[in-house]
Amino acid sequence: MKVGIFDSGIGGLNVLNELLKEYPNNQYYYYGDTKNIPYGDKDKKTLLSLSKKIIAFFEAKKVDLIIIACGTISSNCYLDLKKVTTIPIYDIITPTIEYLKEKSDLKKGVLATKRTISSHVFQNNLENILAIAAKELVLMIEENKIDIKVIKNYMQEFQDRDILVLGCTHYPLLMKEFKNFLKKEVEIVDMGKCLTRKIKLPNTGKSEIKLYFTKIDKTLIKNISRILNCKYEINLIEN
Ligand code: DGL
Repeated sequence: MKVGIFDSGIGGLNVLNELLKEYPNNQYYYYGDTKNIPYGDKDKKTLLSLSKKIIAFFEAKKVDLIIIACGTISSNCYLDLKKVTTIPIYDIITPTIEYLKEKSDLKKGVLATKRTISSHVFQNNLENILAIAAKELVLMIEENKIDIKVIKNYMQEFQDRDILVLGCTHYPLLMKEFKNFLKKEVEIVDMGKCLTRKIKLPNTGKSEIKLYFTKIDKTLIKNISRILNCKYEINLIEN
């Protein structure tokens, strides 16, 4: 099966990684819109126009399925995008909320981009949730310049929580750092794992990974090699 996956940058590669563990035998087309990163503080109109271009790209590639591996696009544009394509399309937040509903008695926290938090998708669907917007984490991750103090400050907000949801797909790349500032018992929820548990893909076809980015530099290439432990091809795409 041909599967299209997209995000603003490398965050969605965490989702791809989770899918590859379960379903390696598919053709994956990954689109990272690095020229327009970060998505997290853009308005809905801009997000919709950027993501529609990506859907058109996947339509031209004739993918069988599209996965929005981005919390910001999932929370702001999912319903609109469903209407613009006949290709089945999955978002990353619905399976995460389904998973969290099984934990209704626990105190939850979510850290995500400004636009995801202001969409209220987590707050409207779950009780007992503390929602905090992070400004600088996505670029920190893309530029590979980690400021521990910033991470510590965010984690302090979640000290009384039982669960922390990483509401942006970039954040699993800081898993080790987050864990350092949380109690051992805190469960950290990775949205890519929630999606992989819910989705059913075939696993019998050709195995291939083609990555497309709208801007490529040395840091990006290094980041990709740190994240993906398999064979892939990288392409620059004009948009
Ligand atoms: N990985 C993204 C998300 O899950 C993108 C964030 C951004 O570009 O600001 O929201």
